[in-house]
Amino acid sequence: METPVSGLSSGSDQLLWAEKYRPRRLRDIADLELIVRRLESFVEKKNVPNLLFVGPPGTAKTSAALCLAYELFGERAAENTLELNASDERGIQTVREIIKDFARSRSVGEAVPFKLLILDECDNMTNDAQQALRRTMEKYASTCRFILIANFQGGIIEPIQSRCAVFRFSPFPDEVVVEQVRRLARMENVSFDEEGLKEVARQAEGDMRKAINIAEAAAAASGEITATTVNEVTGRSYAAEVEKMLKAELEGDHEGAAKILRQVLAQTGYSGRDVVREVHRRLGSLEISEKDKLRLIEAAAEADYRLSLGADPEIQLEGLLARAGLASRERGAKKGGA
Ligand SMILES: Nc1ncnc2c1ncn2[C@@H]1O[C@H](COP(=O)(O)OP(=O)(O)O)[C@@H](O)[C@H]1O
Ligand SMILES: [Mg+2]
Repeated sequence: METPVSGLSSGSDQLLWAEKYRPRRLRDIADLELIVRRLESFVEKKNVPNLLFVGPPGTAKTSAALCLAYELFGERAAENTLELNASDERGIQTVREIIKDFARSRSVGEAVPFKLLILDECDNMTNDAQQALRRTMEKYASTCRFILIANFQGGIIEPIQSRCAVFRFSPFPDEVVVEQVRRLARMENVSFDEEGLKEVARQAEGDMRKAINIAEAAAAASGEITATTVNEVTGRSYAAEVEKMLKAELEGDHEGAAKILRQVLAQTGYSGRDVVREVHRRLGSLEISEKDKLRLIEAAAEADYRLSLGADPEIQLEGLLARAGLASRERGAKKGGA
């Protein structure tokens, strides 16, 4: 039996808000009229080309794919759809086998003669793996359609791009985020004020999942969504982690600091630029020389600029940490020598 697709099974109270309120029908997807209309036309014609969904996190790529599956297959969506992550820890070989087995099997029911395979994080696949994927897409074209999802279109090889209809997803405008969070708060009977909703949107920067997670955390911690409760939940855990990270680095434990960095980036939903800002805020109180402080402020500004151009957050931030580590080691050496 295939693993059931999470978004296609029914909701439950234990689910996080972001899953519980994931749009089920294409018409429930907020703010994406053009994309929705194109997808609906595929449903009407009962034919879907291979698709490539490109855009940053939390911009409705997975939701749109799951809604399309539901529109096509109705109650049989779970049986006819497979959702996989290309960076699955089981390894690309296993993923390849699963894809092949799924792609060549026939669809269940009468709706359409093909199944739907949703493959997330395709831009993390190596060139070779993408070439193999392209061959699979061609070989099983009659029994399977692919929805490939990526953060960057440039990470996808040209022969795949040219075989897919490309859909671009963009960060949501703050007003859309505010209205979505307002809707969820009402459905959850959580009180809120306008400043709270605006603060959620400001911190989410167009990432709907991040917005919903922040709102849920504030509601869980304080029972209401206000600017204060939002800042309490977002500031607390994450500021503490950044503090721990800097402390580790200054104590000479670069490995430990880098590990915390990866966790902060992967788990808190904060962007690289958020972390740079938090590090920047703390530079003033570090026990290093004035000259080193100035150098680090300069390094933080540089990292922030590079990140604004799309540089890799982990590399930029680890570089910034390394500079802080070097400054503190030089100081330690001078102290020891005096
Ligand atoms: N347009 C939208 N309308 C309503 N909810 C949305 C919309 N886009 C995203 N969401 C919410 O945000 C969550 C994350 O969206 P998702 O589709 O998983 O983003 P992505 O795959 O682009 O990272 C969804 O579970 C859903 O709750
Ligand atoms: Mg997704």
